[in-house]
Formats: sequence, C-alpha cells, structure tokens
Amino acid sequence: MPIMEPYRIKVVEPIPLLTHTERQLAMAQAGYNPFNLRAQDVTIDLLSDSGTGAVSAAQQAAAATGDESYAGARSFFRFHAVVSELTSFPHIYPAHQGRAAERILFTALLRPGQITLSNTHFDTTRANVELLHCQPRDLPCPEASDLDSHAPFKGNIDLTALRDTLTGPDANRIGFVIMTITNNGGGGQPVSISNLEATSALCRCHRVPFLLDAARFAENAWLVTQREPRYYDTSPTEVAQYAFGLVDACVVSLKKDGISPMGAFLAMHDAELATRCELILTATEGFRTYGGLAGHQLDQLAQGLREVLEPDYLRHRAESAAYLAQLTTDSDIDIVQPPGLHAIYLNAGRLLPHLPPAQFPGHALACQLYLEGGIRCAELGSLYLGTLDKDNQLLIPAPYELVRLALPRRVYTQSHYEYVAQVLTGIAKDSKNVPGYRIVHSPPLLRHFNSTMEPVHTSLRRM
Ligand code: F0G
Repeated sequence: MPIMEPYRIKVVEPIPLLTHTERQLAMAQAGYNPFNLRAQDVTIDLLSDSGTGAVSAAQQAAAATGDESYAGARSFFRFHAVVSELTSFPHIYPAHQGRAAERILFTALLRPGQITLSNTHFDTTRANVELLHCQPRDLPCPEASDLDSHAPFKGNIDLTALRDTLTGPDANRIGFVIMTITNNGGGGQPVSISNLEATSALCRCHRVPFLLDAARFAENAWLVTQREPRYYDTSPTEVAQYAFGLVDACVVSLKKDGISPMGAFLAMHDAELATRCELILTATEGFRTYGGLAGHQLDQLAQGLREVLEPDYLRHRAESAAYLAQLTTDSDIDIVQPPGLHAIYLNAGRLLPHLPPAQFPGHALACQLYLEGGIRCAELGSLYLGTLDKDNQLLIPAPYELVRLALPRRVYTQSHYEYVAQVLTGIAKDSKNVPGYRIVHSPPLLRHFNSTMEPVHTSLRRM
C-alpha cells in the first residue's frame, strides 16, 4: 500500500551509487568503521536522525527573515514565542545543540557526588553527569528488557525502583530525575503520560527536581495519542504541552524535532536556577537571546517546531517507520518491538548467532549493510556498550547486540525503505557468511566513533 508523503519534493540531492568494489575500498579505507566513511560514499544514510532532516520551503522563508542583531534580535522573540507556547516555561534559553544545553543545566544543578536517575540517560547526558563527578543511574521499566514484547510504553521508568531509590539510603544524594522522551538509548520507545505524572508526583513529594530530555517530544506525543487510551482524542500539541507542564526544567536538542541541522534550548521555572544557567550560557555559548545560534537558525527552528506537531506529518512518519519495520521482520530479521518513529533497532545478536559478542555482531551487521547496499548505520552493542580490557578484548558484553537504522525526517521515501529491506533480505539469506570483526585500534573513550576494525576472516587469512 502506498504511504503518501504529505509534501512534494522541490529540491533534490543526488544519491551516490557505488559498485561493490568501490564500497569495499571505501570501507577498508574507513577502517571498517561507518563513522569514518565519507558521505559521498554512502547511498542511504541511516546513521542518525539528528540534524539530518529536510527543511521546508516555509522554514527557508523564515530563515530569510532572520535578524542577526547581537542582542534582542526579532528572531529570538519569534523563537521564544513558539517555545513558550509549547512549554509554558518562563525562562527559555537557546543553545547550539542538546549537549551544550545539558552541560549548562547540569552544571547549575548538580554538586559532585550526587546521583541522577533516568529511564535511560542518553550517552551525552550520561557523559555530562559524569563530567560533574556525579553518578547516572538508569531505571528502565521491566518490559524494556524483553525486546520482542509489544508493550506500548517500554520507554517508561520503573516506578517501584524510582520510589525505592528516592526513599532508600541514597535518598539525600539524588540530584535530579531526568526522563528521556522518547527513550533513544532504550530502543526509541515512548514514555506514557501516566508514567510521567507518577514520576512528577514522586519527585514533588521527595523535593527532587524533575527534568525532561525532550529531543523527540513530538514523536513521544504522537505515540501517546496512539497508544494511551486517555489521549486518543487529544492532539499531539496538547499532549506535548501537558508533558512539559509536568517538569521543573527541560533540555531539548532541536536537531531532531526542530527539523533543523542545528539548535537546542533549555528552559525552567525557577528564577534563581535561570540566573545561574544564564551566567554559564553567556560565558560558554552566547548572550541569552542567541545562545550559540544565528538569528536565521532561530527563525528556521521556530517554523520547524510548528511543522513537527502537524498530525499528517507525524502520521506519515509513524507509518513509514512501521512499514520498514514490517519489511524487516518479513525478511526474518527481528527488531526491538514495537517500532517507534525515529529508528528501527535490528536484533543483530539473534540474526548472527555464529558470531560471539567478542566479534561484535552488531558492528558486523552494520558493516555488511554498507558493503552490500551502501547503507550506513550504527551499532548499539558490545563495541559501544561492552567492557574491554587494555588489549581491547571484550570482558563484559552489552546486554543486546543491536543496530540502529535511524530515519532522517522527510528525507527518504517508501522506495528507499524498500531498497533497505531488499539489502536486509539478502544479508539474512546468507547470514552465516557475515564475518565477525576485531578491534585494530581503539581509544579509551568514545570507542564506537573512533575505533578502527578488521574482519576476522581477513586476519585469519593473513596468518
Ligand atoms: N538527548 C537525546 C535523547 C539524544 O538522542 C541526543 C542526540 C541528545 C540528547 C544530544 O543532542 O546531538 O543536539 O547534542 N542524539 C543523536 C542521535 C546524536 O543520533 O541519537 P545533540
């Protein structure tokens, strides 16, 4: 069945089509790490949905009205009006991207030795907590550990574990609770409004700040309108507004649901916290009315924030993700169920049982997708999350060996997804021949970005 885009295409960009030999060469030159590939060698780029969306004609028109005054630019007030209507926070600051907003808010909120709690901290969120000598703790709900379960809100926080921690021996060390919507580190699963409400009530009762990492706030709102009966007749805008109303402060990367290449904001109720954030913002990002962004970017973001909540846009995005999910399972590749909106997570561990975690099955599948079809994506398995010894041997594997196919907004059409599925089908049919990988070189930090790898059969042949 056709999934009709609720837009037509006005500007196009050619897609590189390489031969198998060219891809083999490009991959070898990239040290078998998709992050090292040049975009000019990638046919379908599913590495990230962040900053990769297509902007609309209306966004381009808005950008043309950008006011680049150093302070008090009209663009800021237009941006502020949209964010204010969405979130109702009295203090709103732009930042150049999500992790900068995290750094500012967390620096203003945390003291060394504190603990932060989350459904799952995103990796930059975790890193920003750790850089402040605090300890991030994930409390995902029990359903999240069953990848095959179709439970509707596997992004929820475990309320029992949260209550126990808030009343347990570490109670006076809790710096904040942060809910990631949707839960990117947890398979892109949504968080229900009832889970947000219960968390909000617990935080209020224990006087702990409650934060949102709302990078995909519109997608979470859409899934609430589809999966939480109380909100079947509510608009995504109303659900998003209600979610922001439940927290004390938020950080929002706008590279996702701002449908723009760059941007973020942080916002809060507390005036004293706002003053501390403003100082850090001014010292490290920019003055409070631009915060690291140009006027034209603020205008483009304001328009993107309106478009992202349109039901036709969200419905199409959900339908195309579900379509790719269906084609993938039809090709006998299991995914994290049920599919969300921003990515499909492939269960590489199950597809490639001949590869032990020490040969990084997720990475192997990601490489194979490039070699067979020029498709770029990222591993979320033992290469990223496992524990290695000093010789780069795997000591503790990740709980799952996954691959994320992230879906850029408004970029690829149904036929592109059919192409991806065709490549996946070919790999699944011949999965026994997908080689494992070993690490040639790995830095101590941010391993998945910077490692170089080689296929295990190549090293055997050399011996
Ligand atoms: N929070 C979440 C949930 C994210 O997914 C990201 C980025 C950030 C914060 C940081 O925002 O990139 O603007 O600094 N996620 C990207 C991804 C990188 O591919 O999932 P940023």
